[in-house]
Amino acid sequence: MISIIGAGKVGSASAFNVLRLGISDVVLLDIAEELARGEALDMMQAAPAIEFDGYVKGTSDFSEIGGSEVTVIVAGAGRKPGMTRLDLANVNSRIVKSVVKEVVKFAPESKIMVVTNPVDVMTYVAYKESGFERNRVFGIGNVLDTMRFRSYIAAELNASREDIRALVIGEHGDSMVPLVDYATVSGIPIKTLLRKDQIEKILSLTKTSGSEVIKLKRATTYGPAVVIAITVDAVLRGRNRVMGVSTVLQGEFGLSDISIGVPVILGKNGIERILELELNPQAKKQFGESASIIKDITYKCTRQAQDQTSTRTRSVRASSNFQHTG
Ligand code: LAC
Repeated sequence: MISIIGAGKVGSASAFNVLRLGISDVVLLDIAEELARGEALDMMQAAPAIEFDGYVKGTSDFSEIGGSEVTVIVAGAGRKPGMTRLDLANVNSRIVKSVVKEVVKFAPESKIMVVTNPVDVMTYVAYKESGFERNRVFGIGNVLDTMRFRSYIAAELNASREDIRALVIGEHGDSMVPLVDYATVSGIPIKTLLRKDQIEKILSLTKTSGSEVIKLKRATTYGPAVVIAITVDAVLRGRNRVMGVSTVLQGEFGLSDISIGVPVILGKNGIERILELELNPQAKKQFGESASIIKDITYKCTRQAQDQTSTRTRSVRASSNFQHTG
């Protein structure tokens, strides 16, 4: 059984994908209990058509997530026009921390899969708040970036998407690093089949297509929802898939104390292994720049949270002092 925290469009669409693919039973949790229950009831009424004999339960009660193999954190605010990544990080880190506290309490054995943006920073926040081993906490932004990268390579080659294999690492954001050197179509390097200008076009589309969807319909849904399902599948079925996943590094790629998208083997234990790749000078530079952006936002977001906590503590202490002398 898995739990999905957040029954909005992405949370509920991913729950339905998990059911349709016959991957797992689902507890769909939201503070808006009726939304969660309504989505679950709606899906159950479709169950016969998708030959699903399990269950999906809608709730607002965290005690229902007990026994989850994976807890997917989707809850959080979407980025509003004019909002910076740091603004979003400050808002969503509070939500992610509060959710993780409940996961630690009710599903202490689960793997935590973070979707909430900015996903690299939120993965770091979840890891720190949970106290779990790092292999059990990861973020899945680059899996979605890789889907887009594969789609645009296939379109440019006019080849089946199924035969495209590729990888995106780095920030799930503008500084992401699609690895052109490692992109192939049935094992053939795309660099041998495409001109430089065609590759540049693919890279640009890969980086901007998520924002294009958000501009047109305010939020992406189907991409994140299918990515959640295939990533849950990799863990629950122990498939040991090779994917770009955000995880906290401890020296790999020369980085520590940062969560960033890197190639991993994803299986029963969550992150089974981090694959340290040789990067060409341009990819290495881009990856370094991406890491700096994530580190900066992570530091500012966690620092502001600490400052707010200490301010609250000081004010409580001051008021209690006042009571003593009052
Ligand atoms: C996207 C959001 C989920 O890239 O970050 O669609």
